[in-house]
Amino acid sequence: EKTNHLPQPKSYGPLGNLPLINKEKPIQSFMKLADEFGPLYQFQFPGRTSRFVSSAQFAAEICDESRFDKKVGPALQKVRAFGGDGLFTSETEEINWKKAHNILLPSFSQQAMKGYHNKMVDLASQLIQKWARLNPNEEVEVPEDMTRLTLDTIGLCGFNYRFNSFYRERSHPFVEKMVHALDESMSQTQRFELQDKLMIRTKKQYKEDIEYMFNLVDQLIAERKETGDQGEDDLLAHMLKGKDPETGEALDDENIRFQIITFLIAGHETTSGLLSFAIHYLMKNPDKLKKAQEEVDEVIGEDIPSYKQVKKLKYVRMILNEALRLWPTAPAFSVYAKENTTLAGQYEVEKGETFTLLLPQLHRDTSIWGEDAEAFKPERFEDPSQIPRHAYKPFGNGQRACIGQQFALHEATLVLGMVLQYFDFEDHTNYQLDVKEALTMKPEGLTMRVKSRRDAA
Ligand code: HEM
Repeated sequence: EKTNHLPQPKSYGPLGNLPLINKEKPIQSFMKLADEFGPLYQFQFPGRTSRFVSSAQFAAEICDESRFDKKVGPALQKVRAFGGDGLFTSETEEINWKKAHNILLPSFSQQAMKGYHNKMVDLASQLIQKWARLNPNEEVEVPEDMTRLTLDTIGLCGFNYRFNSFYRERSHPFVEKMVHALDESMSQTQRFELQDKLMIRTKKQYKEDIEYMFNLVDQLIAERKETGDQGEDDLLAHMLKGKDPETGEALDDENIRFQIITFLIAGHETTSGLLSFAIHYLMKNPDKLKKAQEEVDEVIGEDIPSYKQVKKLKYVRMILNEALRLWPTAPAFSVYAKENTTLAGQYEVEKGETFTLLLPQLHRDTSIWGEDAEAFKPERFEDPSQIPRHAYKPFGNGQRACIGQQFALHEATLVLGMVLQYFDFEDHTNYQLDVKEALTMKPEGLTMRVKSRRDAA
């Protein structure tokens, strides 16, 4: 029998279900609610309803692109203040989505990674050298250093710009402004309209942060145009030269600005979180660490890793897949129904209704992963063809999936490979996982000591 009635938690008048959510950790709150209310439940925000999905069965339904399409929800709407109609924050129907997608796809192909490889090695070596020069009792702040690394990598591979984060005590100002702006855009979605209007100073700061980002990026574009084509083979070159094969059109300058900001945001926090979680799990699982080091010693030995060698780091790649299963660093995405439809032949859905796929919960579906779904076991990814297609979605779905997937995985495999080549990890604080949420997730306060396995470069 069909129904449009979904399980829903207790409601609190005009606030709906909102009081049930820890504002600092909304995703982890939604996960707990899924434990209680099941793999498809309804959630009442003030003024709008959403539905949370977290089983492979329902995921397969809402990942059907003939019936559902990406929803640029309230949070992404706010990010449009600086992401504009860049790839991440545009509607599929906006002309610049398809156009930029067509123009940029080749820049993220496996082939293109060969061109970025040496630049990635350049920055990974900076990380290795920093760690190699620490005194025995000094500790590494893992997420902080990984963010330095991944920001610098997308800066160099994307726009031939060096943020030089390893030469700075504090983050590059761009990062501070970006993090502020992201925080503020997320906070806005939790405020009431009047409350928001009254926050004059916050608003002014927000505007200034965004202007700073626009200026830095516009300058990059202007400089490149001035010096002309020097044979650079980076994203910016592709954006300036590329033409949409369907229409023959190029991207305009404003859209290129939005794309650059999008890549800087999308391209670094997620990958740095991934590397941080992977290190956390290896530190807690010495047998897996040993297995990974054996692979690295065999494949790379004492070399500087080549593109081909990185491709051969199969177990390292499995570790990253498993880290992304337990803590997918972009933890959710949303879709809306294009027409009236039914889910699993049971739930009636009206056109426009939105669903959010809760990835860390989907990735713990015991019907797929077994009763030990909480355990870190890279061996699950031994044969990826065994994993049902809609049970594992760390990079999103279909045509709106992550364009940077190959980039992120090549970079992360290279970096983790080099870290394993040079260091043993010491869990000197007996770190207990505390997952911090912003737009992405990371292990808050993760530190370790490193011991050299050999004389570093
Ligand atoms: C989209 C995850 C790295 C650029 C997405 C989506 C996910 C995701 C889940 C879909 C979002 C949605 O449906 O609303 C990740 C993860 C990463 C990562 C987990 C690292 C571990 C990167 C990198 C770049 C990038 C390195 C760029 C260099 C993008 C862009 C989109 C996107 C531009 C929007 C694509 C479109 O809609 O056309 N990513 N991402 N991401 N990602 Fe990533």
